[in-house]
Formats: sequence, structure tokens, C-alpha cells
Amino acid sequence: MPTSRKDKALNSVSLPDNLSDNLSGDLCSDLPGDMPGDIPGVPSGLTLKAASEWALPRVSGKRAEHVRGVYKVGAKLAAMAHLRPEDSFMVELACLLHDACKEYKDTRLVEMAQSYGMTLSSLEKINGHLLHGPVAAFVVRDELGLTNETVLQAITEHTLGNCPMTDISKLVFLADCLEESRPKDFTKPIWAALQPDRGRDDKKKKSGQEKTKVNLDDAMLVALDLSLVHVLETKRAIHPKTVDVRNYFLGIVRATEK
Ligand SMILES: [Fe+2]
Ligand SMILES: [Fe+2]
Repeated sequence: MPTSRKDKALNSVSLPDNLSDNLSGDLCSDLPGDMPGDIPGVPSGLTLKAASEWALPRVSGKRAEHVRGVYKVGAKLAAMAHLRPEDSFMVELACLLHDACKEYKDTRLVEMAQSYGMTLSSLEKINGHLLHGPVAAFVVRDELGLTNETVLQAITEHTLGNCPMTDISKLVFLADCLEESRPKDFTKPIWAALQPDRGRDDKKKKSGQEKTKVNLDDAMLVALDLSLVHVLETKRAIHPKTVDVRNYFLGIVRATEK
């Protein structure tokens, strides 16, 4: 995970003067301006409203709408997963910050990743956009003073995933996949895989083992499979990590089916 070059206090972040006049301002206005208590590594002023006011002006209006949509799905998924308020907050915070560097040029992302000490493969040097998650985690740490590893991991892992992933990281990954503007033939199978009213969860429910939960691992597997198909169909390079992460979730799903 990223290590900090230096922590800055949240109040040192300068926001654009015209924030309230632009689309980003509209998208930020109804977000909560308070926090569900102290969360280690999250500065006390970093509310969801403050996070969005920092993140959304960094991207185009269309991207800002995507980020806001990911936040909305993330909040919904966190509720479906019965997360505690602090954990839901971490999902929502990571959703708002995940694409902060998405519109940086590939060369800039490569330079930044190297300046943060990342060792890059030749594929990553050619496809700098694959680094926008890890670079965003470093920038968030440096500019917002956020050092919460769970949130930083979720931001880092939102594009390629990881082995293993926390539930918070899976929820952010899935929220990014399920954002409203994504094609329905991509989102529908993922929503279907998430549904808790499927075979083995029913068994667990009947035996009183746990309350019904969404099937995050099933949904991750479906999302990764569909993403791989899309990469193959569009004849783009496959990052080896995508294959490793897909096989990792296949193993989990197969093990739970036995
Ligand atoms: Fe992204
Ligand atoms: Fe995204």
C-alpha cells in the first residue's frame, strides 16, 4: 500500500473559487457534512461533502456524474451488506475519491507512480491509465491527510482488484462496475450474482448461521469474468493481476459451493 511522503492537514486543501457555480458544486451540495464518529486515519474534517468538494472539480462534468453515481451505488450496497455506519462511511468515502486521478494523462500517471516508489511492469508503463487508482491513493494521502489503509486500499484496488480484498474494497469495486451509466448487459448479471436469496445463503439462513448477506464474492467473479471478456473482445492487453484476481475469486466461489 502507498506510504506517505508527507501528510497535510485537510484545511490546507484549496478548493476552486467557482465550485458552487459548476456542476461539481451541484453534485456536492446534498452530501452529508458530518461523520459517524472518529475513524482512525480519517481527518475529522473529511466529511463526504468535503471529499466530494475536493474530488469532483478534479474531473470533467461527465466523470463527476459517474463518481457521484458510484457513491450512490456504494451506499446502496453497503446497506445491503449490513455494514456498520463507520464501514459504510469508508465505502462512500472511497467511492467519492476513487477516480480523482482518472483524467490524468498516461505519461503523468507513470511519472507520478514512479515518483511514489512504485515498480512498474512494461505493460503498466505503456498503459498508464491502469495506475489511476494507486496514484489517487497516494494523492489522497498527501493532499487530504487520509491515512486509513482500508480506504486507501479500496481506492488502489478499484480497477484491477486484489488477492485478497476486504469487503469494503469489494463494495467499492462493485459500485464502480454497477454505476448507472454502465451497460445493462454488464450490470444485470452482477446484480443477479449479488442477490442474497440464493441456494447456499438460504441454507445458512435456515441454520441461523448468519443474517442474509449479499454475495460479494459471486458478484466479484461475475464482474471480473465480464471485464475479461470485454478486454478480449476489444483486443486490449490483459493485466496479469486481472487473471490472478479472477482465479482467486473463482477459488472462493467453488469452495463455498462444495
Ligand atoms: Fe477508475
Ligand atoms: Fe470509476
